[in-house]
Amino acid sequence: MSETKRLQDKVAVVTGAAAGIGKAIAGVFAREGAHVYLTDVDGGAAEEAAEALVSAGHQVTAMTVDVCKGQDVTALFRNIESEPGRIDVLVNNAGLNVREDFRHLSDADWVKIREVNLDGVVRVARDGFNLLKASGKGSLVNVASIMGHRGLRQLAGYSATKGAVSALTRALAVEYAPFGIRVNALAPGFIETALTERVLRNPMINKALIDQTPLKRFGSGEDVAAAALFFASDESGFITGAELAVDGGMSAGL
Ligand code: NAI
Repeated sequence: MSETKRLQDKVAVVTGAAAGIGKAIAGVFAREGAHVYLTDVDGGAAEEAAEALVSAGHQVTAMTVDVCKGQDVTALFRNIESEPGRIDVLVNNAGLNVREDFRHLSDADWVKIREVNLDGVVRVARDGFNLLKASGKGSLVNVASIMGHRGLRQLAGYSATKGAVSALTRALAVEYAPFGIRVNALAPGFIETALTERVLRNPMINKALIDQTPLKRFGSGEDVAAAALFFASDESGFITGAELAVDGGMSAGL
């Protein structure tokens, strides 16, 4: 008896999917039967990640997409418009951080953080609307952060963009609902990826963060991907405007 896959024949797009959380999300979606558009500003890394999934028999298309560039995002959606003509799941995952004391944060660094983490999310969520609507059951998933709700030194700029993504998620849930599109957010805590590598390598910070995490470990890309799969699938069909913390209990308290 063949097992039913949770995203069988769905069309999914993941931004920033060449590494870390996005790569894990793309992998889980592909294994669950979706045709995944694996997009990243690093086209070579996107190709590599896609090749591994294609050789395992999955349907994956790699594309170079810098979410800061309107023409890249337009090209991505144009490509999908002609065939398959719809997007069932769109994951706004691309993001970055520049650690700096807020009083020293340069205009250039602030713009860099904001352009990817907020402007990119806005662009993809706005320009992807028609294709999500064409699905009839579209699911937009924004990767926010528990740092959108909590403060940590040197992360103020990053926190500001992530808090905005949480607010945008709720507002879009209301605005997109009449078109059959659900909009939800994931709020990861500390996940072991390139983004957190340097900070987690610091023994003092590492211990302090583990002490503040009830489950006493950092998360993996797969932990976040499992939650993304829930928002992507019809199992969350009555859920929109929600934010799910994937943080080992960090935001719940000590
Ligand atoms: P990562 O650095 O491992 O991977 C990010 C990916 O995004 C890379 O492949 C990178 O090339 C791509 N990317 C960067 N700028 C881009 C752009 N302009 N256009 C398209 N792609 C671009 O980071 P990680 O940890 O996997 O982060 C993924 C998302 O999860 C981000 O939005 C991040 O803010 C969020 N997040 C991560 C947490 C963590 O602890 N790692 C915690 C909370 C949220």
